[in-house]
Amino acid sequence: MPTDPAAPPEPATSPMPLALPASLTVNGRLHPLPGDLDGAMPLLWVLRDVLHLTGTKYGCGVAACGACTVLLDGQPVRSCVLSLSAVGRRAVATIEGLGEAQAPHALQQAWIEHQVPQCGYCQSGLLMAASALLARKPRPSDADIEAAITGLCRCGSLARVKVAIHRAAVRLQAAPASSRVGQDVASPSTPPLAPVSAPPSAPPAAPASPRGQPGTSG
Ligand code: FES
Ligand code: FES
Repeated sequence: MPTDPAAPPEPATSPMPLALPASLTVNGRLHPLPGDLDGAMPLLWVLRDVLHLTGTKYGCGVAACGACTVLLDGQPVRSCVLSLSAVGRRAVATIEGLGEAQAPHALQQAWIEHQVPQCGYCQSGLLMAASALLARKPRPSDADIEAAITGLCRCGSLARVKVAIHRAAVRLQAAPASSRVGQDVASPSTPPLAPVSAPPSAPPAAPASPRGQPGTSG
């Protein structure tokens, strides 16, 4: 049937609402999510603004810089361009789960020893990408590191990143399995642990200096 050129345009069909998961597993803990979230919300903002896990950083917003890198079932992803609905039931690992101030991951120890960070802004993304690399390849070559570490660092730390990854790899291989603190952060098989309460409405206290524990500042 011919279309009347004078007829008003068809109203645009509204896009299908994206499914919203009821909870999100982050660093082995089950976080209930508010019911009014938009499933299109990037994972980065869910982590930072809803769960108040501010160690993951916003840099470019277009999947170019890697500052927002987290692990999804052990695989590094750019959380600035990954919608919450696309995460589904997969497990998220962030810098907050890599190690603690009293028990840093071998990568964080090596980062400190080799004074990797300058401003620190890119470091959580680099550390998460490095943890995924070591889980997949315990003794990576320089080429492996260059292929896996695709984040940018405006402070020029990438040469020290490479040295520190080699150092952490040696340390992890020398350590007994029971003492490899945080090594399993990149493992997709880590089961969800105890659920945590709904996120508080107020932001947390000021974060520690990036020099103290690489990659966890706000
Ligand atoms: S903020 Fe996501 S890649 Fe730059
Ligand atoms: S951007 Fe400053 S340490 Fe990488």
